[in-house]
Amino acid sequence: MSGEQKTFYLETFGCQMNAHDSEKVIGTLVQEGYRQVETVAEADLILYNTCSIRDKAEQKVFHRLADFKKLQAEGKKFGVLGCVAQQEGEKIFERAPHVSLVCGSASYRKLPQLLTQIESAETGSRKPEAGNPMRATGLDDRETDECFETEFTARTNPHRGYITIIEGCDKFCAYCVVPYTRGKERSRTSASVLAEARQMADLGYSEIQLLGQNVNSYRDPAGKKSFAELLAAVGEVPGIRRVRFTTSHPRDFGRDIIHAIDAVPALCDHVHLPVQSGSTRVLDAMQRLYTRDEYLERISWMKAAKRDIAITTDVIVGFPGETEAEFAATLSLLDDVGYDGVFSFKYSPRPNTPSLALDDAIPDAEKARRLDVLMARQREIQIARNKRYIGQRHEVMVEGKNTARNQWIGRTSQHKTLNFSAPDEINPRIGSYVNVKIIGSFPNSLLGQMVV
Ligand code: SAH
Ligand code: SF4
Ligand code: F3S
Repeated sequence: MSGEQKTFYLETFGCQMNAHDSEKVIGTLVQEGYRQVETVAEADLILYNTCSIRDKAEQKVFHRLADFKKLQAEGKKFGVLGCVAQQEGEKIFERAPHVSLVCGSASYRKLPQLLTQIESAETGSRKPEAGNPMRATGLDDRETDECFETEFTARTNPHRGYITIIEGCDKFCAYCVVPYTRGKERSRTSASVLAEARQMADLGYSEIQLLGQNVNSYRDPAGKKSFAELLAAVGEVPGIRRVRFTTSHPRDFGRDIIHAIDAVPALCDHVHLPVQSGSTRVLDAMQRLYTRDEYLERISWMKAAKRDIAITTDVIVGFPGETEAEFAATLSLLDDVGYDGVFSFKYSPRPNTPSLALDDAIPDAEKARRLDVLMARQREIQIARNKRYIGQRHEVMVEGKNTARNQWIGRTSQHKTLNFSAPDEINPRIGSYVNVKIIGSFPNSLLGQMVV
């Protein structure tokens, strides 16, 4: 390795927070002189940015590590980052002894140091640690105040990009690992968020997605702006045409957010508001801090908005003790709201969480059945919702081309995928905005023709 440029391969699992962390990790490593490569075979260092939200997600990284174990003999090094790293800590070294680095998201600033530590151990200039001569851990206390702000973010898309506004979560829903893997809530100042938004606009970005496990809990440490005010201010940055935000927690979702959407054209017509269950009893057991009616009240605010706001959600089926009637309450909630999209999951018991103490008695086959029923119901709702758009004109950001079908791929403000045809002589630029007339609809996408 010495003399030549060091290379790394990074695979990312999990949510947008992880995707964005990976962009920051890539930027940091490139600054350290590493080069990113596309395959494990070319890499000196193999990193996994992991997710632990459900058991299946967690298992993925251990499968990958097992698959590539033999490559250690070729001198390749392995590192585990992200939520599994934070959750399992040094136990990862026991389970996968070929791993050299375990680092949670609050310690990414230390990555350069940790990598030097591994390398110097390798060249013998440093005393080997017990067991493995090349191991380093960054598992900062989750009570940290640090946000992983870095000037070295390597964004993967030149047109739309993420900005983290708040890290961690203080909600402690009974089933969820996030408060344990990402620690307590820490907000960035509105000034630093706005500076990043302006910098991105200068670089040609036109779409920004504000990120946090719970963006509605945003508290400006400088006391200047509420979340809704920050949202509006980002939407007013010259050059920024679209602003999205995720994820919202119903408890803290204020009407001022809807007012901001109504007032600022750049804010997109889309709110993702995870409900988890339509039964107030189950919501209470989940410690979600709202009832079905309180949730529906927030939905009614959105429906009363001047803009046609698309609403999406997350649902968990088979939470311990969920009865058939309680599951039916979730189905009826889907009808009441008329969601534009639902991400649904089978309950998965997770380490450290309060609901681990509850009996996970609903068999997997029954959870799977409930999931199927829910998805089938939601599919019908989406078919009906998407039909409404036929005949309308929508502006899309051009995201790509499906050459096999000779169709362009765009996304509407409502976050719908809109595939469209354009006259042969017109080649819309990726990242540009065009108007499309909608002529057809499917459960998960729309079909249209570019208006010239
Ligand atoms: N911060 C977001 C959620 C992040 S996790 C929020 O509060 O809504 C994304 C989704 O994963 C959650 O909304 C939930 O539906 C699902 N999820 C989280 N923990 C889970 C578990 N233990 N089992 C199944 N699904 C889970
Ligand atoms: Fe998890 Fe609840 Fe926090 Fe969302 S709000 S990240 S579900 S603890
Ligand atoms: Fe997964 Fe961690 Fe995100 S557990 S969903 S990667 S915050």
